[in-house]
Amino acid sequence: MRNVISPFVGAPIVGFLLICACAPLAQCEQRVEVLTDGWRFAPGPQERGAATDLADAGWQTVQIPHDWAISGKPDPQLDAATGKLPWRGEGWYRRKVKISAEDSTRRVYLLFDGVMSEAKVYVNGEEAGGWDYGYNSFWVDATQFIKFGEENVIAVHADTTKHRSRWYPGAGLYRKVSLYVCEAIHAEHWGTHVSSEVSDSGEATISVRSEIRNHLTTPQDISAELVLLGPDEQGAIAGPVTESKTIPAQGAVVVEQEFKLKEFEAWGVESPTLYSVRLRVMQEDRELDQTVTPFGVRKVEFTPKYGLYLNGKRLELRGVNLHHDQGPLGAAFYPRAMQRQLEIMKDMGVNAIRTSHNAPAPELLEMCDRMGLLVIDELFDKWDDTADLHDQKQFEPFMRRNIGNFVRRDRNHPCVIVWSVGNEIGAILGAKDERAKAKVDFVAEQFRQHDNSRPLLMACHMLQVLETQTLDSMDILGWNYRRQYLPSHERFPKMSHIYTESASALSTRGFYKLPLPKNKTDFAYDERQVDSYDHNAAKWADIPDVEFARMQADRFCSGEFVWTGFDYLGEPTPYDHNWDDGKRPAEDQARSSYFGIVDLCGMPKDRYYLYRSHWAPASTTIHILPHWNWSGRDGEPTPVYVYTNGDEAELLLNGKSLGRQKKTEGKPEPDADSDELMGYYRLRWADVPYEPGELTAVAYLKGKEIGSATMRTAGDPEQLRLTPDRKQLAADGLDLCYVQIEVVDAAGVLCPHADATIKISVSGPAEAVGIANGDPTSMNPFVGDSCPLFHGKAMVVLRSKPGSKGVVKVTASSDGLESASASFAVGE
Ligand code: GAL
Repeated sequence: MRNVISPFVGAPIVGFLLICACAPLAQCEQRVEVLTDGWRFAPGPQERGAATDLADAGWQTVQIPHDWAISGKPDPQLDAATGKLPWRGEGWYRRKVKISAEDSTRRVYLLFDGVMSEAKVYVNGEEAGGWDYGYNSFWVDATQFIKFGEENVIAVHADTTKHRSRWYPGAGLYRKVSLYVCEAIHAEHWGTHVSSEVSDSGEATISVRSEIRNHLTTPQDISAELVLLGPDEQGAIAGPVTESKTIPAQGAVVVEQEFKLKEFEAWGVESPTLYSVRLRVMQEDRELDQTVTPFGVRKVEFTPKYGLYLNGKRLELRGVNLHHDQGPLGAAFYPRAMQRQLEIMKDMGVNAIRTSHNAPAPELLEMCDRMGLLVIDELFDKWDDTADLHDQKQFEPFMRRNIGNFVRRDRNHPCVIVWSVGNEIGAILGAKDERAKAKVDFVAEQFRQHDNSRPLLMACHMLQVLETQTLDSMDILGWNYRRQYLPSHERFPKMSHIYTESASALSTRGFYKLPLPKNKTDFAYDERQVDSYDHNAAKWADIPDVEFARMQADRFCSGEFVWTGFDYLGEPTPYDHNWDDGKRPAEDQARSSYFGIVDLCGMPKDRYYLYRSHWAPASTTIHILPHWNWSGRDGEPTPVYVYTNGDEAELLLNGKSLGRQKKTEGKPEPDADSDELMGYYRLRWADVPYEPGELTAVAYLKGKEIGSATMRTAGDPEQLRLTPDRKQLAADGLDLCYVQIEVVDAAGVLCPHADATIKISVSGPAEAVGIANGDPTSMNPFVGDSCPLFHGKAMVVLRSKPGSKGVVKVTASSDGLESASASFAVGE
């Protein structure tokens, strides 16, 4: 059977238009259409934005996902914390949708994966629905406003003027929009709940709870047929089980069914086996609806003493926090951009993601299901500030609504192992009164009402909360920074702990400043960059090595989530408004973060290899830093570090050995102030007298050579080099190719100081949708055809044109340099 899935059960939507071809009794015409193109957009207030007769031909033609602010000009005077981009404002989207007369007895829904923010949805001029929280998914029942057999005008108003954020939020229809047409009796949206339990004897019980709705004005007899499908479309492995019910007029029923599996493949990080449940809603021999819900069978146990056990084995969470933006693409959610982020993180040894601090795009969870990545699914940042909850009197209905959608959408994903109810909610954690506890209890109850199978966590930062009972209804305490989970563990030894934010280390890709920083907060203020020898962190945080040592020592803690995997737009600590008592003028503040292990374009910083050495010990990593172009420093002592999964290395400069260094053996004391600690994780040659040429590191593990790496001094910049990350793109108008641009010398060695401006031209069925270089201070627009290089590199992102086929040729040129071209194919 083909993989056609109702969009309302949090499952993948494949392709552009899906017709339910339910064999052989099929009569249902359940239809999902992802509304990608054909939209018009106008910024600012539009008095008649929703009117059917509005002449919108002069509006911009846009494609969804669309973030109206990312193409805006970065403005040095704008807020650094949110990326100096013009995201604050309002905008209108309009699209025509033809609904056939044959659908007149059916229901028509619009599903929005996320609209930033305060969405109001109009159908043929009438307000049909909306949503107040910019990161949540919601649906609108458009049926009563639809003119069947005619063209209908959908208009969406997005308004970010009240939205508060500590990072770049994006603006508009930044995630996909789907149209869903189904019978008047159908499986409820997000109404299927599959949960599994594994007994001590190893038998799995799969419980399926399906809600089925009847919109007709008379009671209806239906039967619900459930089949368990094996992995990889193997077909039915259990069932069918069928249950008959009468659904009251304009009401709903719940059908509960169960399967037992004596043998099964568990879902885990190494083998993420997915089963699925197929539900068919039948009336006599007519199929009214069909949904397929993927799920996994796994045993997740958080223990207060020894951390997390997955399928009976202790697993240390090696996680990263990811904000929702995609660097030069802004908040616009492209599945390929997400997939690439996860691939880069996984290659580094990451096994878990925290969706800081909001409901992610649903595709993120589908990818993590398939890739075996565990997820802390987080719904909110601060309830009293950045959660779009503007009126605290509305606390309960707001929470009820938003938690309902979030949990119902995401609860079937095996990758989700924890629900996070929020991050660093000062108003709760610092409060001493009963009201804070009552709020947390209420929120917990809402989560548990829709899913009782996963633990609840709040990410904390204020130890005062330990003197209260405020977090009694949480199952796990998340702690951010400075090993704060330790006093929490002492105070609440029966609770489990996760280090929800660790490190907050800072660096700029390719930037080195000598002498080395003495303290973690010695920054290169004049350049507005942070040195990349990995000695720097925010004042409330620590370098990676310190956190590694803590995780080795504190086995009761389930693992760490580094702040952050990728650099993100906004929060450019330490070059922002609140560092140094707010003295730095706006135009001197940067625009994107320095926290990322990789830069804003996904190009690894040195730190990437430090993590990879420790987190992916089975992969060979041998990385030398810094670059070896230090003209003017001849003979001067220059520190050289090697990050490797080996335990020892020999360094050679122009063929002459500089000796071997060995990692310190044993278990380090997690002393944040000790320089010795680094010796357990990195190899260092403190005083290499600089001489141009070739530095080679030969690495060893337990005495056996595992490989070598070389860093060469580059000659003058000669030519450009382009490296596309893919050879073939789907012609769906969403698929992406990231093309890395570099300047190299005549021998092909990267020129680490090259900063020439590059111009891009593209021919064939793709267009450039983003260009950037990873410089957190750059004010170069993200949408355009030129960009200065930053430490020799930049990245252009190309998007395929829908329905096209052919070869795309990208050419990069710059005055005085030899141009370069690269190609990839679009379509079959
Ligand atoms: C944390 C916060 C994150 C981010 C981080 C920077 O306190 O939860 O959102 O601001 O600090 O270090």
